[in-house]
Amino acid sequence: MDATFTLVRAREDDLPFIMATERLDGYDRLVGRWDERRHREAMVDGSHAYFVGYEGEAPAGFSILRFWNAIERVTLVRRLAVVSPGQGQGRRLLNAVVSRAFMETELHRLVISLFPENLRARRMYEAVGFQAEGVARGNAFFGGQFHDELVMALLRPEWEARQALAASADTIRG
Ligand SMILES: CC(C)(COP(=O)(O)OP(=O)(O)OC[C@H]1O[C@@H](n2cnc3c(N)ncnc32)[C@H](O)[C@@H]1OP(=O)(O)O)[C@@H](O)C(=O)NCCC(=O)NCCS
Repeated sequence: MDATFTLVRAREDDLPFIMATERLDGYDRLVGRWDERRHREAMVDGSHAYFVGYEGEAPAGFSILRFWNAIERVTLVRRLAVVSPGQGQGRRLLNAVVSRAFMETELHRLVISLFPENLRARRMYEAVGFQAEGVARGNAFFGGQFHDELVMALLRPEWEARQALAASADTIRG
């Protein structure tokens, strides 16, 4: 049976887990990483929101959002990584993050950018409801070079429609 998945706002003592996860083998090509000082600054800058997802008692992954609760109502999923990819942790984590963002803020548009070759991430983002919009050229300075990024987004009406569909499917299942 699957352990219960829970999402919590991260605290400073979650930083060792977050930093270890963004440094997992092979992740250097896929996701950014910061030193402890940069994380500590971001955690209290009023723009970033940090989350950790737990499978039962064990931390499974983290996500960092930027422009949390911003007046423009556009928020960015700035970083997302799980400890055991390919087992559904990412989908559970992102679903929880998305729900939290739309429920706790007046957010209208949630954006996530990824390297176009990161097909595992793209597939998972699509499963959560994000749509690919296009390639932003040279959008990420990463590993000393500028890289293109695929921009994906989920708008509030789309998220609400998915929620309504899931609720009616639950009713039919009884
Ligand atoms: C991206 C990430 C968060 C996704 O989480 P995850 O737990 O691996 O994703 P899930 O297991 O929920 O879903 C992955 C989907 O991609 C599919 N997939 C796996 N490898 C794939 C590949 N090489 N090409 C295409 N699809 C692939 C899986 O089959 C699954 O789809 P399905 O549920 O329809 O079968 C996770 O892989 C991760 O942490 N990667 C390293 C860091 C990273 O890339 N972060 C994102 C930066 S934008």
